[in-house]
Amino acid sequence: MASGPASTAVTVFPVLLVEDKDSLRAMLRHALELQGHSVIEARDEAEAVACLRTSAPAVVLTDLRLPSGDGLGVLRAAREVDPAMPVVVMTAYGGIQDAVSAMREGATDFLAKPVDPDHLLLLVSRAIEQKRIFNDYLVLREEAAERRGAPRIIGEHPSLRQVIERLHRAAASDATVLLTGESGTGKELFARALHALGPRADGPFVAINCAAIPEGLLETELFGHERGAFTGASSRKPGRFELAHRGTLFLDEIGEMPLSLQSRILRVLQEKTFERVGGTVPLHVDVRLVAATNRDLHSMVAARTFRDDLFFRLSVFPVEIPPLRQRTGDVSRLAHCFVDRFRRDMNKPALTLSVAALAALEAYAWPGNVRELQNCIERAVILCDGDQIQPSHLHLTTRATDAAAPTRDPWEDIDLSGTLDEALRRVVVEAERRAITRALRDAHGNEERAADLLRVGPRLLRQKRTEHRIA
Ligand SMILES: Nc1ncnc2c1ncn2[C@@H]1O[C@H](COP(=O)(O)OP(=O)(O)OP(=O)(O)O)[C@@H](O)[C@H]1O
Ligand SMILES: [Mg+2]
Repeated sequence: MASGPASTAVTVFPVLLVEDKDSLRAMLRHALELQGHSVIEARDEAEAVACLRTSAPAVVLTDLRLPSGDGLGVLRAAREVDPAMPVVVMTAYGGIQDAVSAMREGATDFLAKPVDPDHLLLLVSRAIEQKRIFNDYLVLREEAAERRGAPRIIGEHPSLRQVIERLHRAAASDATVLLTGESGTGKELFARALHALGPRADGPFVAINCAAIPEGLLETELFGHERGAFTGASSRKPGRFELAHRGTLFLDEIGEMPLSLQSRILRVLQEKTFERVGGTVPLHVDVRLVAATNRDLHSMVAARTFRDDLFFRLSVFPVEIPPLRQRTGDVSRLAHCFVDRFRRDMNKPALTLSVAALAALEAYAWPGNVRELQNCIERAVILCDGDQIQPSHLHLTTRATDAAAPTRDPWEDIDLSGTLDEALRRVVVEAERRAITRALRDAHGNEERAADLLRVGPRLLRQKRTEHRIA
């Protein structure tokens, strides 16, 4: 990185420069570097999208006309990665109409060609400054929310910070939020943070786990019941929707919600009213809904085990939490915090992680994500008698580490011996068995739906199921 005048903001994160003309790109790069910015270059939309995925640019500067794809595509991709990422577009002479459409799509600013380097630098510095102020504001808001009791979300990885930023945006609105992510990634934690960060923070946060409550009881849990609604209903009971009035209702594991109840939830979302079980008076509630699932709702919609209209209503503001194994660096941050927390809880004196223990933690794949890491550290703190946690205290199985190693070829586990016919047959049979098992799982064991998913007749599915001995 070249050094520049102290008055300009120096980027820690690079400027992504998307321009196909080599001479112009070199000129702009030079001007930016002179001011202390580091620059990554792309020549078309595909290259730009790849850069957006692998690095976290502070600002994107893109030509609108590109040899393949266009600047609007780059703009959209950037906003998808991070809605607050500043994007400045460059337009050819006379392309004011294009500039207007880019601004409408969320570009921060535009520059007419031929580009005046001073003007460019001004726009870039201003965009970076705006982004910095916005980030400071987020940190302050997080701190303020923490003081009010919001849970602390630990992690610095750009992918997580982006999710947190989305969470802040969602919190400010009243939109329904759908949190997705593998088990243990922090969906419930994020739901609580969302509530605490928003204007409903002083209202109730009511959670219900749709998977933990038997199907028959879920309806009365959600909507309550009137006295005498069924045998044993000796008094009126308010449901969670009522309890969450002026607050947030967290529907955890929404993928497990039976179809019959899905339509009732949809109605509340649309009309904001419902009746208690056995009741006739419509009740009006003011509830913000947050739902979470670790299932693939898309494929459940395809299998017709999840209503598409409810899915669309819920995913007004989808937030996907990345798995821990993709958040390099966060494992050790979380591990240090957890060691500290459990050490204090257990009244142990100073306790640290040895270098070898940290390396083992970082090499592990964490299929159970943050929850697994938290449990692992808790156990290690209990087991460790000295002042340093060693790999032996962690009880990490190497199998999971192997599974995470990107170099491992899954075909190595498959028996390809014998003739070509024999090898092919074994692979096909195994693929068939796995596809059927998976479809049955996605369809909650409903054979007809599983057959639909696989686009085969139910008879063939039954026959295959017997053949493969799938229970
Ligand atoms: N980024 C984080 N910082 C601090 N703690 C975290 C973080 N992510 C998760 N945790 C902790 O990890 C545990 C698991 O998180 P949580 O219960 O929210 O996950 P989940 O996605 O709801 O999991 P599941 O799908 O299994 O229900 C909780 O104790 C939570 O506080
Ligand atoms: Mg959960």
